[in-house]
Amino acid sequence: MLSSLLVLSLLSSVLQPALAVTIDTEGLPDTGLDTSSWTAGVLPPLEDIWDLNDMQIAAKNVLSGKYYASYRTAALNEYTYQANLGIYSKVRLNGFGFRDVSNLQTSTTILGYNFSQPFFIAPAANAGHANKTAEKSLASAAGKAGILYVPSISSTLSIETIAKAGVKGQVMFHQEYIWSNTSQVIDELDRIKAAGFKAIFLTVDNTGINGIRTRSMRYTDGSETGHSANFDLNSLAAFRNLTTLPIVPKGIKTWQDAKTCLELGFPAIYVSNHGGRVLDGVPTAVEILMDIRKNAPEVFAGMEVYADGGVRRGTDALILLALGARAVGLGRPPMFANIWGEEGVSRLISLFAQEMATSMQLMGVADVSQLNTSYHSDALAWSLGPNT
Ligand SMILES: Cc1cc2nc3c(=O)[nH]c(=O)nc-3n(C[C@H](O)[C@H](O)[C@H](O)COP(=O)(O)O)c2cc1C
Repeated sequence: MLSSLLVLSLLSSVLQPALAVTIDTEGLPDTGLDTSSWTAGVLPPLEDIWDLNDMQIAAKNVLSGKYYASYRTAALNEYTYQANLGIYSKVRLNGFGFRDVSNLQTSTTILGYNFSQPFFIAPAANAGHANKTAEKSLASAAGKAGILYVPSISSTLSIETIAKAGVKGQVMFHQEYIWSNTSQVIDELDRIKAAGFKAIFLTVDNTGINGIRTRSMRYTDGSETGHSANFDLNSLAAFRNLTTLPIVPKGIKTWQDAKTCLELGFPAIYVSNHGGRVLDGVPTAVEILMDIRKNAPEVFAGMEVYADGGVRRGTDALILLALGARAVGLGRPPMFANIWGEEGVSRLISLFAQEMATSMQLMGVADVSQLNTSYHSDALAWSLGPNT
């Protein structure tokens, strides 16, 4: 009797369809993604994935609450995080007819190195939370697609392991923090150069402390950083003597700091609010680029400008490029794509490249180097600077 009851209950659990997963999609655009065949905690098929938002929802389905929160989290009320995502919907792009767009050109140079696309994988810590291949899959997918990858100094894998993971001849830059322990900085800069990285993205926006990130603090306290809190212009000058690699200050959020970097002779700046993870309430990359255009337009002629924050669609990247950015970073999306390892990151790169190319063609832009503010509609409520 007991055994037949057991068999019955086993049978019914096998025959019962798995409960459809319901995922809170956090207000991300509805792309018609159907998750009804997904199982909670199980990697969904990559064929279900058609854009970067889908990848985030898939990551939410498969990662632990703690690891998903560590990628997704942002500071305080996440106003800046939300503004990063929302700002692109407020910008109107012009689509010109009567142009020859039969031969599209997306390749560009970043600090003089050739890349196939004007977008890159931004530094993000702990890729190992998504996949055991960690930063290796990001490096190899970027290398195979010919795009730039800039690993974080807080990566899961070592500087040397990541350097070796790329394809032959691949150019990568490396991110560095301003640790209060100067000998650690010197050691890391030496190792980064010896491993073959060609430039340093020096993150200057979390001066001794991270933003308060409630979503991830529920799992772990992450506000202490070990970064220097007294990194002033004298420290910046001293830092520049520690390496011969070009240095790009990352985390520029005001036109005044952009202008200072130009005056100090940096080859480039990286406009970023750290994906809304540091100071909540600061402007988005669109707004910062517009502030620079208005108050210090010489910055765009005197140095390269990179930008990131909330870029999820090819059109988002085109908006930043048209405002004067030379290249655009993706932070969270590659981390989410890495739940499938290299295959996922490669799919992200090709989906994003396709969105960009399609939109360029529809805008009447044959070459990314032609993008300028004339591609923003006059109907825009923003006060853009003169066309470049
Ligand atoms: C999980 C995660 C870790 C990050 N780690 C770093 C880091 O170690 N160094 C750094 O300069 N920026 C770091 N960032 C910021 C990114 O480089 C980038 O500025 C930001 O994510 C862009 O916004 P997006 O995620 O909306 O694309 C991190 C961002 C995320 C999401």
